[in-house]
Amino acid sequence: MPIDDAKRAAARAALAELPESGTVGLGSGSTAKLFIDEVGALVRAGRKLTGVPTSEDSRKQAEALGIPLLTDDGPWEIHVTVDGADEVSDALHLIKGGGGAQTREKMVNFASKRNVIIVDETKLSRRLGEKWPVPLEVLRFAHLQTRRLLAEIGEPKLRPARGGNGAPWITDAGNLLYDLAVGPIDDPAALDRRLRGVPGVVETGLFVGRADLVLIAGKGGVSRRVPVV
Ligand code: A5P
Repeated sequence: MPIDDAKRAAARAALAELPESGTVGLGSGSTAKLFIDEVGALVRAGRKLTGVPTSEDSRKQAEALGIPLLTDDGPWEIHVTVDGADEVSDALHLIKGGGGAQTREKMVNFASKRNVIIVDETKLSRRLGEKWPVPLEVLRFAHLQTRRLLAEIGEPKLRPARGGNGAPWITDAGNLLYDLAVGPIDDPAALDRRLRGVPGVVETGLFVGRADLVLIAGKGGVSRRVPVV
């Protein structure tokens, strides 16, 4: 299945997880974008859904589609959040932040009763870190100092802005992004704790135990995986 079709199939499958009416966390990235389009169509058809966007991109898209949104201040009562991921491990832990939105995504994820992740099968790996570095949102202040500490854990790379003009990527919150290559991760919770202990690290792209359902689109259609408890 072409990758865009797979993403769309996963996005459509997530519609069955939405409440009849209520608040929905709107993820970020190309797969979540397809999902938000579908939510827009439901709202146009009269469904009473309100969104909480996880990035400025998602906010703009939702506004253009006429999806009512709650304010950024919270607190929110979110029935379900639907979001993409960069890597999904066998244990259904996630790496997120390929689009630079992991801090807001994590806050919305934690405010949500349920979290549904939509991916195509290329995102699957046995252990996190096999395919992706860990995205880290880092304060601009003394970021080279933070980088030095991160270099004791892995190989940090400052993420450049899209467009290749040599400027660094700036997050929605005005921070920098480092991508930390660490290789396959045996204990993502321990790594997450360690990274969050580095001064200057605002948030990591490790989502440990934060997926209630993963919808995976592949050749055979969309399959469902839930964490083993
Ligand atoms: C945004 O920062 C990310 O966490 C995305 O959810 C993730 O990168 C998946 O994006 P795609 O759906 O574009 O692969």
